[in-house]
Parts: sequence; structure tokens; C-alpha cells
Amino acid sequence: MSPSSKPFLRALAGETLTPPPFWLMRQAGRYLPEYRATRAEAGSFLDLCYNPELATEVTLQPLRRYGFDAAILFSDILVIPDALRQQVAFKEGEGPVLTPIRSATDLDGLNISGLHDHLAPVYATVKKLSAAIPATTALIGFAGAPWTVATYMIEGSGSKDFSKAKTMMFGQPELFARLMALLIQATGDYLIRQIDNGAEAIQIFDTWAGALPEDQFERWVIAPTRVLVQRIRAERPGVPVIGFPRQAGVLYKRYITETGVSGVSIDSSVPLEWAAKELQPLCTLQGNLDPILLVAGGEALDAGIDRILKALGKGPFIFNLGHGITPPTPPENVARLAERVKAWKG
Ligand code: CP3
Repeated sequence: MSPSSKPFLRALAGETLTPPPFWLMRQAGRYLPEYRATRAEAGSFLDLCYNPELATEVTLQPLRRYGFDAAILFSDILVIPDALRQQVAFKEGEGPVLTPIRSATDLDGLNISGLHDHLAPVYATVKKLSAAIPATTALIGFAGAPWTVATYMIEGSGSKDFSKAKTMMFGQPELFARLMALLIQATGDYLIRQIDNGAEAIQIFDTWAGALPEDQFERWVIAPTRVLVQRIRAERPGVPVIGFPRQAGVLYKRYITETGVSGVSIDSSVPLEWAAKELQPLCTLQGNLDPILLVAGGEALDAGIDRILKALGKGPFIFNLGHGITPPTPPENVARLAERVKAWKG
């Protein structure tokens, strides 16, 4: 089947489909018992990311249950710092822990030369997936946006206020710019290689975009994303890019027009009528069900789904959550969502 017959890719090319194609961020993960079993078999979380057989298996698990229109490569945004030789670990119940980058000496310890060798298992996963997914399912490759990855590299963990990352950004602008330049290069190289192994669309996750004031948003969210979009467009024309500048608020509009993305994933705080009027004429929208509605289930879930379909289903749209599925989500609620979206008649 040619790519243009895949509903997910048709929606990204600007078609309005009824029902809209759908997939869910973090559709592979701890809410699924079969994921937890494979994860235990793999050892650590990073071991799972670098095991092509098992990473392929966990990518396919949610497709078997729910028939999503897209598969997303199973990996993590923090494989980039890992491949640049920063120490990265995922601690049970704590999330990621990294040896933080705070000085020029720390930054000098990073090295891009072994990037592709280190990430070879991820490319192998993409290749296996592209042969294994159903003919109407699209394969999404992804990376973290430079700003969001930089926050973990500088903080050394998740953070509430990004004080260390922002202190470097404001106080040591040259050092911060060097780190960002390295990330823009590595992320572009990584995404191009995913495309060469079979990724048909790319999503760039800028989870912490909303933490930046307008001028920094322009410089460290919009500009690096524009470089990545332009590079993909020039080197691998025809591969659509979805941006996810989470919690960007009214800046979603400038993000779309100034980066040139084909689609934008909106978080749950974006008002639907505003999005339909101001954003949907500019590009395909993806989103934006509150992931906790998927935990709660029942009539609240149904009503949330319908509101989104009514508001955004009349234009180019891909149904998704406003952020990733959380571990307490009952799998039967995901089945309920899948049925309801697939039955939508406009
Ligand atoms: O969507 C998918 O199914 C593909 C897989 C995927 C994962 N992480 C798997 C994962 C994707 C696209 C990501 C992206 C990612 N990773 C982001 C951006 C999107 C977002 O959710 O905001 C970020 C910020 C990360 C960094 C990260 N990875 C954190 C902060 C954590 C710990 C928090 C947690 O949920 O445990 C992870 C771990 C992680 N990445 C898990 C999974 C399935 C859970 C790890 C486990 O199985 O123990």
C-alpha cells in the first residue's frame, strides 16, 4: 500500500477524514501488562530501548489491542544524551538521572562522533517495525526538541522550575548556545537516519516549551525546530514533521507559522474553538484529550472525546491525547476511546 493511502499521512498532508486517524502518545507503556512483562525481560529501561526485538514487540503491543493508525518507535528522548556519552540512568520510581552538564569542561566531555554507532539498535528497531506494521499503519519516528533535552542534561533529572537550565541560558549564554548547537546537530542526524530506516513521519517533543518567556521561546524553541524542519525538508523531502511545543499557549500560532511544521500536537489546555479558528487553517492539528480522562473513564471520557471530535473533526485532524498515557490508565478505557473515535460519523 502506498504511503498516501495511510489515513495518518493523508491527514498530515491536509485532508479532512471522518473519522479522523488516531494514536496516543506513550501508547506503549506501563499501563499494559504485556509491556511490563517485556520490560522485565529486557532488564533496565535503556536495555529495552536498545533491544531491537523487544523494542519492536512493545511498539506493536498497543496496535494489536487497539488498531491505531500510527505506530511510534519505542525509545526515549534521552537516548541522545546517552549517545553523546553523558551518563544517563532511569531509576525505578524516580525517573531519569543524568550526570549534569554545568560547565565548559562538562560540555567538552560530550562527543558526537559515536552517535550513529550508539544508536544503531534504534535504527534497527525502526527497520524491523517498518516491515512488521500493518499496511494502513504509519510509522512515526521521534526525538526530543533541543530545549527539552537540554533541560534534562543541565538539571540532571526532571525539574519543576528548570532553574539550573534557565540560569545557564540567561547567565552563560555562550555555553548554553554551544550545548544547543550540539543538540541541533545530533537530533537532525538522528532523525534523518530514522527516516532512512523507514520512519514515515517525525514528531518533535518539546514537553517543556511552555517554561520559556517569549523571546527565549523564539530563540530556543522556534529557531531550533525551524532548523530541524528545514533540514528534513531539504534532505528528505515529503516526510511530514509534527511539533509538540507543550503549553505554548498563544505562541502555538507563531510556532506553526515560523517553524513550518506540517502538524502541531496541542496540549489539553488549548481551547478547542480557538484552536479550530486560529490554528487549524495553518496546519493539521493533533490532540488534545486530557490523559486523566482516560484514567477516569465513563461518561466524562465519552463527553471529552465528543467535544474534541465536534470542534476539530471538520478540518485536518489526528485524534490524540494532550500528553502521554499515564501508568494508572485502565486498558479497557483505551478500548472504549478507540471504539468511540472509530465510530464517529461527523
Ligand atoms: O509514545 C510512545 O509510546 C513511544 C515511547 C516514548 C517514551 N518516552 C517511552 C518511555 C516516547 C515518545 C517518550 C518521550 C519522552 N521521554 C518525553 C517527551 C514526551 C513526554 O512524555 O513529555 C520525555 C520528557 C521523556 C523523558 C522521560 N522518559 C521521563 C521523564 C521518564 C520517566 C517518567 C516515567 O513515565 O517513568 C521516561 C521513561 C519512559 N519513557 C517510560 C516509557 C514507556 C517509562 C519507563 C519504564 O518503563 O520504566
